[in-house]
Amino acid sequence: MKRILEPELMNDPEQAAAYAGPDLNNAYWLFMQFFHKYFPGLTPDDAILDLGCGPAAIPLLLARHFRTCEIHCVDGAAQMLAQGKKAAQREQLEHQVHFFQGTLPNKLLLPRDRYGIVISNSFLHHLADPMTLWNAIHEYCLPNAAILIIDLLRPTTETEAQLLVDKYMPNGPPLLRHDMLLSLCAAFTLDEITTQLQQANLAAKLTLSMATTFQFAVYGHLNES
Ligand SMILES: C[S@@+](CC[C@H](N)C(=O)[O-])C[C@H]1O[C@@H](n2cnc3c(N)ncnc32)[C@H](O)[C@@H]1O
Repeated sequence: MKRILEPELMNDPEQAAAYAGPDLNNAYWLFMQFFHKYFPGLTPDDAILDLGCGPAAIPLLLARHFRTCEIHCVDGAAQMLAQGKKAAQREQLEHQVHFFQGTLPNKLLLPRDRYGIVISNSFLHHLADPMTLWNAIHEYCLPNAAILIIDLLRPTTETEAQLLVDKYMPNGPPLLRHDMLLSLCAAFTLDEITTQLQQANLAAKLTLSMATTFQFAVYGHLNES
């Protein structure tokens, strides 16, 4: 199946509210499990950068787990940031979780020039040009930064995509089920991501692997000189 692009920014209030609701909690929790798996013992002591943070469910989990670090959350969609800010206030985590509106590849205005930990979940498949994310890794990471990127993989057919939605979100709200289908169709294949990493000169530094049956993870330390 050929890639079918999705709009990049998610500015629909209903969509933002659905992403902030409980239906995706498993996916957010899973991201945390992979963070611990790939970086055992890593205790962030400064700030983590989350690219395409959405309603900041993962930053909030990180903030609760690592009480002394900050998470700087970037998204181009004001509706998503509004959901994130509301949740951070509700959970009294505003001192740790900070929000910045910015649309890559535009220059981001952030409190740090570069970060020692950069994460991103379900963001790559939104980008018309995937190199936007890999270029941002070079631009905003410290030389030995820890990177964790997780996203969907594009199945071979639309029927297979629908089967995945039925299997993994059988009782989800129609909006999220529809979104998952569109996202699977917009996602990249392992081969395409391999090529992207090679083009970005990241293939020797970061590991690409299957995270679940329908998601990949790119992780590791940059070790750039
Ligand atoms: C599917 S959501 C994932 C959100 C969050 N990471 C999560 O796991 O719930 C993708 C997010 O990326 C944002 N986004 C898409 N393209 C962007 C861009 N070029 N720059 C900044 N944010 C972007 C969208 O607005 C949306 O909030």
